[in-house]
Amino acid sequence: MADQSGGFTNHTNNNRTSSSDDYVIRPVPQRDHVDNVGDTSVGSDVSLRWLHQLYLPKKTPEVVMLKDGMVQYTSQRLYPNVRHLSPAKRERILVTGGAGFVGSHLVDRLMWMGHEVIVVDNFFTGTKRNVQHWIGHPNFELVTHDVVDPYMIEVSQIYHLACPASPPHYQYNPTKTVKTSVMGTINMLGLAKRTKARFLLTSTSEIYGDPEEHPQKETYWGHVNPIGPRACYDEGKRIAETLTYSYMRQNDVDVRVARIFNTFGPRMSPTDGRVVSNFIMQALRGQPLTIYGDGHQTRSFQYVHDLVDGLILLMNKNYTEPVNLGNTEEYTILDFAHTIRDQVLATTTTAAGPMTDVEIKLLPAAMDDPRKRKPDITRAKKYLGWEPRFAVKQGIQETVDWFKLQQMEGAI
Ligand SMILES: NC(=O)c1ccc[n+]([C@@H]2O[C@H](COP(=O)([O-])OP(=O)(O)OC[C@H]3O[C@@H](n4cnc5c(N)ncnc54)[C@H](O)[C@@H]3O)[C@@H](O)[C@H]2O)c1
Repeated sequence: MADQSGGFTNHTNNNRTSSSDDYVIRPVPQRDHVDNVGDTSVGSDVSLRWLHQLYLPKKTPEVVMLKDGMVQYTSQRLYPNVRHLSPAKRERILVTGGAGFVGSHLVDRLMWMGHEVIVVDNFFTGTKRNVQHWIGHPNFELVTHDVVDPYMIEVSQIYHLACPASPPHYQYNPTKTVKTSVMGTINMLGLAKRTKARFLLTSTSEIYGDPEEHPQKETYWGHVNPIGPRACYDEGKRIAETLTYSYMRQNDVDVRVARIFNTFGPRMSPTDGRVVSNFIMQALRGQPLTIYGDGHQTRSFQYVHDLVDGLILLMNKNYTEPVNLGNTEEYTILDFAHTIRDQVLATTTTAAGPMTDVEIKLLPAAMDDPRKRKPDITRAKKYLGWEPRFAVKQGIQETVDWFKLQQMEGAI
């Protein structure tokens, strides 16, 4: 896992555009290729090959494109193989927001582990396509439901993810975002209280706001603008955490809180306006990659399988304080733009031949956009035995492949 960058940086870019000619690129460090994910201590270990059949299948037998713009769906005969668990070991697990980006990968892994999984989703930002490979499986159930309304079911674990996570989506209807975080979390905590289920909240690094402490430890209380355009999400998650610990203290609910930092991977919504999906979509369309601000703001991106590993470990270990889950390797947004552009250019051929170049364009900074964001993951290492394994480059390769597959299938 050596950093092969050999030094860096020339960010002096006055004409507000950037190309590989006027910019010294820091190659994203290479790590050994990851072939297996998960952790044997909780039974989540699985080969990447098994996961690939779900989101990067060699062929997609369910959908046949016919002439005249018609499409035919056939039912899949065989489900992906999953582990056999005795009924005594099998958990009944509710995943709210399980049809979303992170939720669907979590569902894949929980299904692989042999558990019974119920997904509750209102499909605001998620889609059935993300979990279609499980529909009809005896261990799986998909329920269309909005968590703002109570939901009754008997379960032993609840992963509470339901909440739009990208700025354009959560700002589309800010009041609804607050309701989802507040009423949705009250409803799911009430369910956990009644059924004595263990409850895990997917909180966010956004609760730290524009941080004055760097990197951010879980003990940092944050620096959040309570009335800005991001407040519906940031403050919504802060109150969701408050509710979680109130139910723990007052009602003995067994809780876990994950503070998730930027995550990317296959099944990100192409319209979510997040950095990675934006850059990939723009590069695939041959459009300029747009950066808000000077591009020197830093982010740490983790690959989705690392996050899923962390969530499952957190749920199954005995630690109730909030835990940061994120990658500590920090890059400027400009670094990311170059890495993604180079990956797309290296692997994409258009009708006119190989793609040659796309511009990188700087636009005015977005309001309340944090300058720096990087997790301190000492807690996760110490109490979960977790740290990210994926190099950003491997994750980007898979994500670009997935977006290209979607494009070929006409899904985006
Ligand atoms: N992806 C990230 O980088 C990131 C970072 C920090 C925190 N998180 C948290 O992780 C969780 C999942 O994020 P994601 O990136 O998969 O987002 P996503 O938008 O892809 O998934 C959210 C899912 O919740 C569903 N949903 C939204 N409102 C709902 C409601 N009222 N009732 C029922 N379902 C509802 C959506 O339809 C979607 O399927 C969120 O709680 C988010 O705050 C994600």
